[in-house]
Amino acid sequence: MPGHFITFEGIEGSGKSTVAGEMYSRLREAGIAALLTREPGGTPVSEDIRSILLDPARSELSAAAELLLYLASRAQLVSEVIGPALEAGRVVLCDRFFDATVAYQGWARGLGEELVRDLNSFAVAGTLPELTFLFDLTVEEGFSRGPEERESSGIRKLDRLEREGREFHRKVREGYLRIARRETGRVVVIDASLSLDRVLAEVWGNIRNRLGLNV
Ligand code: TMP
Repeated sequence: MPGHFITFEGIEGSGKSTVAGEMYSRLREAGIAALLTREPGGTPVSEDIRSILLDPARSELSAAAELLLYLASRAQLVSEVIGPALEAGRVVLCDRFFDATVAYQGWARGLGEELVRDLNSFAVAGTLPELTFLFDLTVEEGFSRGPEERESSGIRKLDRLEREGREFHRKVREGYLRIARRETGRVVVIDASLSLDRVLAEVWGNIRNRLGLNV
């Protein structure tokens, strides 16, 4: 594919969405045709699926149905948005992608990493990120600046996944770190406990190198 596909991963409160947004702005300022999207979501169908997945009232959702909904959302996003953008030579930034399914459903939910990888291959039909940033920090720190903070300040209620206990989220973190250990060429682990400025500098440096930018 002529474009570049970069993903941002991490537990709740790791700051990945803020960094993805800032990277998008910097690329655009540098005159690069970039696109920022997110998972689950990014197309009308995928945003509908997102609302089912995150609805705290949908506590009956089975683990298998949850997995397949994430994959359905992804299949649509890849065919409608990511694939065409990469074909057109754009730089696609995606806030979460298939590593999230390996970490959340495969490892933390216990459905199995291999199964998730196999089903994912079908969903994305060969569209895989070349560079992934994993924003790593403890669950305690992540929750203190993420979901719990938002709930206690009345900004919004916890979503279905955020309601899972801390043990679940510790497993998610472990699942992500397992991926990073296995795929050192693709996954760059960022210490998300550092200041935002340092995190931004590190991520931007990696993107500039990967894209060969002189900005
Ligand atoms: P967000 O909070 O980054 O918008 O992500 C939505 C939630 O969905 C978050 O709790 C992580 C979860 N998730 C999965 O469990 N599996 C997936 O494949 C993806 C993309 C997200």
